[in-house]
Amino acid sequence: MQGIDELKKEIEAADCQSKDELEKFRLRFIGRKSVIGDLFARIKEIPPEQRKEFGQQVNELKNLAQNRFQAMKEKLESQDSGQEAPPFDLTLPSAVGVPGSLHPITITRNRIIEIFEKIGFNVSDGPEIEDDWHNFTALNFPPNHPAREMQDTFFIEKDPDIALRTHTSSVQIRVMENQQPPIRTLCPGRVFRNEAISARAHCIFHQVEGFYVNENVSFVDLKQTLFHFAKEMFGPDTKVRYRPSYFPFTEPSAEIDISCNICKGKGCNVCKYTGWVEIAGSGMIDPNVLTNCGIDAEKYTGFAFGMGIERIAMLKWEINDLRLFTENDIRFLEQFKPF
Ligand code: DAH
Repeated sequence: MQGIDELKKEIEAADCQSKDELEKFRLRFIGRKSVIGDLFARIKEIPPEQRKEFGQQVNELKNLAQNRFQAMKEKLESQDSGQEAPPFDLTLPSAVGVPGSLHPITITRNRIIEIFEKIGFNVSDGPEIEDDWHNFTALNFPPNHPAREMQDTFFIEKDPDIALRTHTSSVQIRVMENQQPPIRTLCPGRVFRNEAISARAHCIFHQVEGFYVNENVSFVDLKQTLFHFAKEMFGPDTKVRYRPSYFPFTEPSAEIDISCNICKGKGCNVCKYTGWVEIAGSGMIDPNVLTNCGIDAEKYTGFAFGMGIERIAMLKWEINDLRLFTENDIRFLEQFKPF
């Protein structure tokens, strides 16, 4: 009986601080091999007249140990779960999320649109899979023009009539077939050419087409529009020059160069030491093209231009390899901020 009293005190005083200590408590007091289990085993050795009382005492002791064990176990568990998931503090300011960044091609496209929108251009769209009419024929490409051959154009399932568009000029036709002048629109989009991938060429890239058709549109309008664009895009000191060129869908045609924004015209390897870099093809829309779209070529004239978005981005940020745009390397992509 005296032993029982001591065990009782021991159980009441127990205060396990870890799972290990709790396990030791369990082994000592609970189960058949514990001290209490041992006391139960010894009931039969007790003289019959004391057996009842002894049994009651041992039973009480067993209940005490079990309750104490349960209480300590619950306490430890609640402390544990408290460590793993602290309750939220709803008064804390919310964490500032780190958003991704826009792709440099998207930034450049948006900036081009922004510049032209301010002078009255809207944005038009056309399909990436085109037919021969919209990509070539309506644009006045002669039947034997080399750009129609297999090495330049990705045809769809060997159908010579359906291809991935090779330029955004196809959208000129789409728009003019459906709208009458005045038309002043910009057509940004992806284009595809069967070219080997290198630092300077890719089989998928982006262009922006722009054109204006109305009465009395002249080459002066083209010059002034692109001069405005060049200064907005590359800075107020940018110079522009027009070199005679040839495109089937414009007459006359010109290539547009700007003074190299990297060496400021002094000469560097980007401008191949000429001081000038090409940014766009352009010209007055060939009357045949207007006629092909159902626009009266006697009444209306128009100018058009087309530029590579990658090229503008490369000049703007001094990027020297076209492949970087499509490799999805986050170290490259995260550097660009809208300008
Ligand atoms: N479509 C031409 C190309 O892909 C670029 C171009 C040149 C577009 C002259 C035009 C233009 O609108 O007038 O190389």
